Amino acid sequence: MSDNVKKASGADFGAETPVYKITENEEDNNAFLKTAADILKNGGLVAFPTETVYGLGASAYFKGAAQKVYAAKGRPSDNPLIVHICDPLDAGEFAYLNDTYLKLAKRFMPGPLTVILKKKSVIDDSVTGGLDTVAVRCPSNVTARRLISLAGVPVAAPSANSSGSPSPTNAGHVFADLNGKIDMIIDGGECDVGLESTVVSLDGDVCTILRPGAVTKEMLLEVCSAVDVAGAVTNPSLAGDKPASPGMKYKHYSPAAEVILVDADDELFAEYVNSDADSKCGVLSSDVWKSSFNCAVLSVGKTGSADEYNHSLYSMLRYADELELNRVYVKKPPETGEYLALYNRLIRAAGGKVIKP
Ligand code: TXA
Ligand code: MG
Repeated sequence: MSDNVKKASGADFGAETPVYKITENEEDNNAFLKTAADILKNGGLVAFPTETVYGLGASAYFKGAAQKVYAAKGRPSDNPLIVHICDPLDAGEFAYLNDTYLKLAKRFMPGPLTVILKKKSVIDDSVTGGLDTVAVRCPSNVTARRLISLAGVPVAAPSANSSGSPSPTNAGHVFADLNGKIDMIIDGGECDVGLESTVVSLDGDVCTILRPGAVTKEMLLEVCSAVDVAGAVTNPSLAGDKPASPGMKYKHYSPAAEVILVDADDELFAEYVNSDADSKCGVLSSDVWKSSFNCAVLSVGKTGSADEYNHSLYSMLRYADELELNRVYVKKPPETGEYLALYNRLIRAAGGKVIKP
């Protein structure tokens, strides 16, 4: 590889998988994105940035490419992949579009929303885990859009992490999980949002949130007549064996450190955390509260606003493992509005348990 292949931030390279860093040089970027697009067209795997988290891309039309994605991630093959496109109407090639999809697309695409639609047979069953539906997403990240457009095919892409670990929000995270297992990593810096897209299913103009994200229930109500939230979003034990979204039944987003979710006010929370005498304990905290704790503080932003928290959550959970912490304490966020996505990731990382001291 030429010297345009750069190290991704934060990772220790000695690398089999080449990493290309997006720079100011558009000519270089285009050349590498063309190489990446050719890899996709030929059935290979390329990790790329999106506005939510990094995706591990494969052509949705290339026989056998989806299986490679499952193998690289160690992901169960009944957990279907999201298919990424540049223009919401491109989905008509492989899915049956309906009025509500078109209205949602007009309002929220490109952006962090994934819609489940009935699939056409051109999409292989391996992409959709054998379901007769397909998840459609149109990312807003410029690099993702260029890559998909150059590939000229819809791109199936789960988050580019090892199955079960926190999703990657920078190229270093991808490298740490998938080096040597995939063909290329495109380093486009830190993801804006930091949590995966909102996933919805539709029944007429009623919408059900299967996975909450940056497009909230309140925002969806601008388009849908009613918006339900699947029970498993806030109570993972309700997922059962055959959930509406197969991803609901798998343990997710977990670092090796135990995540302890605590339902308490600020004062009681600090008291509870500080009763842990283990030197290998940590706490997720905004900078405003950091002086309240005796254990390692993992910063979730200056004020801990939902945006800041979402943006840093996965990085901090990974950082907990770098510090080899045994436990990470987290104050339970609200289960509503822009905090619902965060609560959903935390309750699952905490194995479904909330402690009330
Ligand atoms: O933000 C995102 O959505 C990222 C970026 C890369 O686009 N992708 C992502 O993909 O999070 P993944 O595979 O990690 O999560 C996809 C989720 C899984 O929970 C899966 O079960 C669900 O979407 N899903 C995919 N296809 C589905 C379908 N046909 N019906 C129901 N759920 C589906
Ligand atoms: Mg994932």
